[in-house]
Amino acid sequence: MTDPTHCFPEGFIWGAATSAYQVEGSPVADGKGPSIWDTFTRVPGTIEDGSSGDIACDHYRRWDDDVDLMVEIGLDAYRFSVSWPRVLPNGIGAINHRGLDFYDRLVDRLLEHDIEPFVTLYHWDLPQALQDRGGWPERHTAAAFADYARVVAERLGDRVTNWITVNEPWVAAKRGYLLGDKAPGHHDPVEAVLASHHLLLGHGLAIRAIRDVSPRGRVGIALNLTPVVAASGDPGDIDAARRFDGDVNRWYLDPLHGRGYPVDVLADLESDGEIVDRAYLESSDDHDVIAGPTDFLGVNYYERTIVRRASNEVSPEVAISPDAAITEMGWEVYPSGLTDLLVHLADEYRPRSILVTENGCSYGDGPDQDGKVHDRRRIDFLKSHLAAASGAIAAGVPLHGYFVWSLMDNFEWARGYRQRFGLIWIDFETQERILKDSAFWYRDVIAVNGVQ
Ligand code: FCB
Repeated sequence: MTDPTHCFPEGFIWGAATSAYQVEGSPVADGKGPSIWDTFTRVPGTIEDGSSGDIACDHYRRWDDDVDLMVEIGLDAYRFSVSWPRVLPNGIGAINHRGLDFYDRLVDRLLEHDIEPFVTLYHWDLPQALQDRGGWPERHTAAAFADYARVVAERLGDRVTNWITVNEPWVAAKRGYLLGDKAPGHHDPVEAVLASHHLLLGHGLAIRAIRDVSPRGRVGIALNLTPVVAASGDPGDIDAARRFDGDVNRWYLDPLHGRGYPVDVLADLESDGEIVDRAYLESSDDHDVIAGPTDFLGVNYYERTIVRRASNEVSPEVAISPDAAITEMGWEVYPSGLTDLLVHLADEYRPRSILVTENGCSYGDGPDQDGKVHDRRRIDFLKSHLAAASGAIAAGVPLHGYFVWSLMDNFEWARGYRQRFGLIWIDFETQERILKDSAFWYRDVIAVNGVQ
């Protein structure tokens, strides 16, 4: 083999990611309680193809075979999430040990094969019992999350080193409580702001719980981050871009790095009537917790965002450059945005370490007559993004790992099963799995620690 063009530092972590609700299925097995996604998917019209995660990839039963596929690809690491209502069916109180047993077995099997588990504690499947008590807009949910984190760390912390507290708090707060296209499907701006605060607080409290139980644990959060560009030099577009960046990026990055919430965003939210009690959001005790030291920053990168002033003067609009390549999600393919983002994060916030905890693309390619899945576009996508990641490393960014979203095709939330992000193709009727060409390509990347 020739030397790879983009070589990665020794020890670079090559992984792939999934989340519980998107792959596991078995929504009531072994004493699991309902989550807000079990409820939300039952509301007519919420999911494009009318589906749910009831079966998904049936990973709860096929996990062992799925680990074999990870071995075939040669993964160093597997990022998965624990389903909170499997562990605590009511969100708090009685522990369901059978639910924990599942993750216990999975972790053991991964370690047998030298695959490092990266455990996400919250990937959006809040126990319905907690939503019935108000969900993330209520402070007690943050405390409940920390108690749940402690329970999981007590069981797995002797073997799991890497923990991701919350996945994409912006999505959980904004899409769940304001835009309503994700569970629990609310449309309430005040709730959304409170939810974001309690997700961050929950993250901080969970860090303390994990470190308490498992001092050698390495802990971080995974944020959806996007470089934001104004559509033009028009002051309205520039201001819309500032707002968008504030809402999605800085609202999370600033408090996590000890700066509190950005004052311009607080002012916007206040003037829009989305904040009821500003002093509550600015409590220095809460901010001390939120800014608790982490070991890495998880970056989920999919695209940049071009923003222009809203035609209705309410919320900024997202534009796509007319000549851009887009994936089947309608997301722009923009690899250099990953370099820009990583360099910016390293300069501005100086995290100890960065991991790309998600990056990937939706293309529907399925098996050809030869039974193989020739997903050339995914290979091109991943290749260009790895080149961008390597560019960031060359510029001095402490990037130590990269996880493809996703290990396998799965339930893509409100988009159902029509969007396929996997390295592994799944026939959702038969549950047959086929490694796509991209999986074999990724295997070669991992083998030489670089891109040819
Ligand atoms: C991210 C989510 C992940 C998946 C990808 C496509 O926002 O974290 O679960 O849906 O997008």
